[in-house]
Amino acid sequence: MKAFKPRVFSGVQPTGNLHLGNYLGAIARFVEMQNSHDCIYCVVDMHAITVWQDPKELARNTREVTAAFIAAGIDPGKHIVFNQSQVHEHAELAWVFNCVARMGWLSRMTQFKEKAGKDRENASVGLFAYPSLMAADILLYLATHVPVGDDQKQHLELTRDIAQKFNNDFAESIAAHGYGEAFFPETEPLIQGPATRVMSLREGTKKMSKSDASDYSRINLTDDADMIALKLRKAKTDPEPLPSEIAGLKGRAEADNLIGIYAALAGTTKEAVIAEFGGSQFSAFKPKLADLAVERLAPIAGEMRRLLADPAHIDAILKDGAERASAIAAETMKGVREVVGFVGGR
Ligand code: TRP
Repeated sequence: MKAFKPRVFSGVQPTGNLHLGNYLGAIARFVEMQNSHDCIYCVVDMHAITVWQDPKELARNTREVTAAFIAAGIDPGKHIVFNQSQVHEHAELAWVFNCVARMGWLSRMTQFKEKAGKDRENASVGLFAYPSLMAADILLYLATHVPVGDDQKQHLELTRDIAQKFNNDFAESIAAHGYGEAFFPETEPLIQGPATRVMSLREGTKKMSKSDASDYSRINLTDDADMIALKLRKAKTDPEPLPSEIAGLKGRAEADNLIGIYAALAGTTKEAVIAEFGGSQFSAFKPKLADLAVERLAPIAGEMRRLLADPAHIDAILKDGAERASAIAAETMKGVREVVGFVGGR
């Protein structure tokens, strides 16, 4: 198989209320990848509008996600941070991919089924085509690795299917234009760590979500220290002490979730947390968890507030990132145009 240069790409939707699930499942992982890879992190505002967004909120949320990236430790000078809509090639390649992907493939996407609900006739066409745009995000940069939460696994599989079908359908043209045996890489998802799925603090079988009616179900990245501690103190648990072995977490969703959160915040494993706290009561564990969460999250919230006080600075970071992203995207799109047989262009 053709070797592609390792490159990381990932995206976060600016749809409001970033929470601990977004942080542990995505942003904290983005930060880690910076040491080993060239990374591109994108605020996917075009994905956000697949469901209605108030324009003022969309702009505010785009800056908030950007601030969260930077506050968490992403370096926009060494890597690339930008918002999707500033690089028009995302829309351009998504169209080509709409013509590669099959209706049947997209109809099977669980995220579409969940988001569209019963009223499918009334879902936007964009919501249906969402995974083509996501494949375009990734493949425009020939990204080889994508850190995501486990809910995005299916979309990553679809991205590989699109890359494969494009490589096959256009094989002759790809070779004729000097791109060898494959134009696009087969991208790998990176889904690891103890908290790829952070659950609600009120109900351990439901994902932590920005749309949950109870604010106590989640820790928002903008919560201050008191709020973080209060929410963890009130988090639902069962009456048993913490188990002494991993197997003891079975059927105890809330305990599993809190231990997973502790492990992820401490940068360790659930096994190690159980080795330390096995047999303790929740009344002893929760204050330790709260201290750790405050220690890790409160500085991020503070830095986000500081950054958000100067939106022009954030906008300048996004513009600079978009310019650097565009240079790569334009190069890929030039190749796509040749391969597909579009006349002229850049
Ligand atoms: N679909 C992702 C989510 O909802 C966001 C996203 C869009 C993304 N484009 C991407 C993630 C590309 C990884 C790579 O979380």
